[in-house]
Amino acid sequence: MSRSGVASVVRSPRFGDDWWRRGVVYQVYPRSFADADGDGVGDLQGVIDHLDHLGPDGLGIDAIWLSPIYPSPGRDVGYDVSDHRAVDPVFGSEGDFDRLVEAAHERGIRIVLDLVMNHTSDRHRWFTASRQARTGPYADWYVWRDPRGSGPDGTPLPPNNWVSWFGGSAWRYEPARGQFFLHTFLEEQPDLNWRAPGVEAAQFEMVQGWLDRGVDGFRLDVFNIFLKHPDTPDNPTRDGASAWDRQLHRYDIDHPDQPALIRRFRDLVDRAPGRMSVGELFVGTTEGAAALTTDRHLVFDWELISQDWRADAFRGAIQRRERAFGNDRWPTIVLSNHDQPRHASRLAATIAATGDERDAIARAAALVELTMRGTPFLYYGEELGMSDVAIPPEESIDPPAARISEDFGWWDRSQARTPMPWSHGRGAGFTTGRPWLRLGPDAPTRNVAAQLGDPDSVLACYRRVLAARGAQPSLQDGELALVTIDDPTVLAYRRRGSGPEILVAVAFDRREAEIRVPAPTDGGRWRSLVGTHRDPPAAIVGHEPWVLRPFEGVVLVADR
Ligand code: GLC
Repeated sequence: MSRSGVASVVRSPRFGDDWWRRGVVYQVYPRSFADADGDGVGDLQGVIDHLDHLGPDGLGIDAIWLSPIYPSPGRDVGYDVSDHRAVDPVFGSEGDFDRLVEAAHERGIRIVLDLVMNHTSDRHRWFTASRQARTGPYADWYVWRDPRGSGPDGTPLPPNNWVSWFGGSAWRYEPARGQFFLHTFLEEQPDLNWRAPGVEAAQFEMVQGWLDRGVDGFRLDVFNIFLKHPDTPDNPTRDGASAWDRQLHRYDIDHPDQPALIRRFRDLVDRAPGRMSVGELFVGTTEGAAALTTDRHLVFDWELISQDWRADAFRGAIQRRERAFGNDRWPTIVLSNHDQPRHASRLAATIAATGDERDAIARAAALVELTMRGTPFLYYGEELGMSDVAIPPEESIDPPAARISEDFGWWDRSQARTPMPWSHGRGAGFTTGRPWLRLGPDAPTRNVAAQLGDPDSVLACYRRVLAARGAQPSLQDGELALVTIDDPTVLAYRRRGSGPEILVAVAFDRREAEIRVPAPTDGGRWRSLVGTHRDPPAAIVGHEPWVLRPFEGVVLVADR
């Protein structure tokens, strides 16, 4: 129940209970979306104020995934949670959250929360109690182990060789208990012991609390590492570039009893129809993601997020995904998120593209992202072609970035988390105060207001293609088959589903491509539906050769 006592339900959604598959999810990073109270940090009221950008008269997305909104000391910028049941006051009040759910639901938009359940902050009251003594109600709620002897100088030795993703040993000694606790991430993020019966019960109760407040789904942070091997054996070692890569993570991730845990979680979530969840696969393969995917529980695979901007690279990635997921499991489509470089920057860099070419690639990538088989997860700002912003180290707000070393070769994620530019002028319509992270230098021209007025903008392209996706059932539910085109720099595929057949062709190169496409499977001709450019090449395309402009993508629909 919301605090008003009435559970909010989605009004006139575009799709029914099938939205998790037919729809599009949009990730809001709350600190950076819109700041309503002028403190420089985005907030929930800011999201409410900008729902029109996302709703049916704007992009027309189906759900918002909110990155963590819970109280957090900020060591991992919200992914170190000190109370999973509450809203961090920096984002607003409990009432603001309920109003956001209500306002989103009125526009047919669902709310997906980010659940960080593998670990808590070390300031969480469970951990504060657990670290005090080996007895007490929370004593076994974290992964505590005895030292494996002591070193020559008497210092206790960690129980095994496991390493933290953020560098160094994954164990930290706690003198009060004479034991080590496990932290896969920072030492301020101790891993919960999901094998303690109280932990699962407490987590599920917390989940129920959010469901009662009208939440429609969850993203599960690093969901494939909740359960570790109970005996915590040493991982086998191998060659690799970082401490993490020099181990085979046989005992700390992907434990075989994980799927049963997700089934129990789904039993809870499934008490009301139409709720989805999506698991963030922590360092795994596409096959691993597919294996953990079940009905209404999607799993992110990272095949697409690491490809260069080349047709053969995307073709290969699509092939591997299709092979791994098959037709009975539903994939996700992700090109950017809060942990990775923004794809407008990343893809352009792979072919040394700048300026207009960069935006042309952003439009072409959008067309691929919104027409492939799977549920697209857009990252706020990608609809503007936002790029990574150079953040001087002293302005970085990503504490793990300070640990980057030869042994932890990551990057400063602040660069991909900068404020959304809404309009020109000071604060770019994001804030009236001083933004928590600097705005991109291109904010005066690359912003929502400017792009709304420009039919050639990246935003105009997203809106056009999203509208076409919403109107074409085969783009939502169809199978995908790659199509071979004479020019290898063109990626093409068919989608066959519950509506007319679709053919997508995208030129990845900076030169024109003359192509012929095969006829629709059931005969007839292709009609051009939508494209990266406002004037797609031809109204009707048959067998005749036809020219795609540099970085042009076109969606054709079978016309009988
Ligand atoms: C996930 C989050 C990332 C965070 C990590 C630890 O990978 O996406 O931002 O640092 O989990 O919680």
